[in-house]
Amino acid sequence: MTDQTPQVDLNPASPEKFPLPPGRSGLPLLGETVEYLRSSRDFTERRFRQYGGVFRSHVLGSPTVFLVGPEAMQWIFAGEGKYLKNRWSNGVRQLLGANCLSLIEGDEHLERRRLLAPHFSYATMRGFVPVIESLATRHFERWAAQPGDFTLWPSMRELAFEIALTLIFGQDAVDVPFLTRHFQTWTAGLFVPFPVNLPWTMFGRAMASKKAMIDYLDKVVAERQKRTEQPPDLLGSLLQHREDGEQPLSRETIVEELQLLLFAGHDTTVTATSNLMLLLAQHPDVLQRGREAVASLEGPLTLDGLRAMPYLAQLIQEGMRLIPPIGGAFRVTTRDVIYNGYRIPKGWTVPVGIRYAHGGANWPDSERFDPDRFSAERNEHKKSGTFIPFGGGPRICLGQHFAMVEMSVMLALLLKHYTWELVPGQDLEYTQIPFPKPKSGIQLRVRRLG
Ligand code: HEM
Repeated sequence: MTDQTPQVDLNPASPEKFPLPPGRSGLPLLGETVEYLRSSRDFTERRFRQYGGVFRSHVLGSPTVFLVGPEAMQWIFAGEGKYLKNRWSNGVRQLLGANCLSLIEGDEHLERRRLLAPHFSYATMRGFVPVIESLATRHFERWAAQPGDFTLWPSMRELAFEIALTLIFGQDAVDVPFLTRHFQTWTAGLFVPFPVNLPWTMFGRAMASKKAMIDYLDKVVAERQKRTEQPPDLLGSLLQHREDGEQPLSRETIVEELQLLLFAGHDTTVTATSNLMLLLAQHPDVLQRGREAVASLEGPLTLDGLRAMPYLAQLIQEGMRLIPPIGGAFRVTTRDVIYNGYRIPKGWTVPVGIRYAHGGANWPDSERFDPDRFSAERNEHKKSGTFIPFGGGPRICLGQHFAMVEMSVMLALLLKHYTWELVPGQDLEYTQIPFPKPKSGIQLRVRRLG
């Protein structure tokens, strides 16, 4: 594993004098995409062994340079707006819309984050704990009351969607079944390989659902704009007025932002929590430690109470290390760069290899589910660039605190009041795209304890 600060020249006088990194371009058009999609971690590992920490390929339609190692991850995160920018596929751009946080850049991006940040701080999360507890309890009781088995994934999606809607719209009544239906069709189109906008394609249906959601959200926002004072929820923040009376964002931008937040904050938490429930069912000793950790919890949950139980966070962190909900992200170079003696031309893709960073030589016995590695004594995650489930740099996940609080509340309730077991004979082989998920969707039997 390379473990050295990269030697970088951002203003090379004659970049063409430097060689491209070693590697292959693969097949015409397809490049090496098929092998990459099969397992980005194996793909990276094989080439890392062959070429070292810098190599090139051609994946997902672009010439690509892979940079391996914790220092390389730090270099990528530090590059936002200087030598790298976000890269999204054409289909995602169309479905998300050009004005949302993930697609804007530079000062506009920083300004938007400043506007949204107060809603994602720990202080704000304090008030959300009871809201999440009440929603989660209602859903968990329903799961436990089912006479037979049920499939966890869609049920967790319903719960997480309701939580996200409450974060954004507060007490406003929104049409949850309508939004859920269109949201699911919309997200299904985000990761199709060929985004063709025709009425019968998955992408076409996703675009139609995007329009239905936008029309609906536009009306919700218009109603809200009529109020003289905004309630303290996320939509309120987006609508707040500046001192000069100007509104900071257009209604179109606000609607796109709402859609992005629903998307970014939804399947990620669903994936992390569902996979953690699976891991706990497969590791009864760890599950028992978790139950003991929450045994002293009494009464309604509070943020301080949750933070006093570090083992909860350790469980969530180890779950996300072993199965990161987002396996990677993509950047594109905005200038020619010389990196460790190799030229990375302007316009080439540079992946952020989250899944790869979470395995291999960065972590002892990396395939083992071992939450104690995150304990204060072992502290295995402290090396920068090795534990990056929420990304890093200026584009680090805006909702990371919210996600941790949401998952801690769910986990504390599950450990304290419920027991769950896997239905035998189900197919637990993982598919990776768009999120790592067992093929069965995780079939469970849930029962209330005591
Ligand atoms: C387990 C849960 C979550 C995980 C693992 C996760 C992971 C990530 C990652 C890796 C990125 C960076 C992508 C990149 O570098 O291009 C990101 C960005 C983002 N996340 Fe999360 N996320 C989670 C939950 C949430 C929640 C709950 C919200 C909001 C309600 C949220 C909102 C966002 C937003 C808005 C961005 C874009 C930030 C920007 O471009 O400045 N995420 N997330």
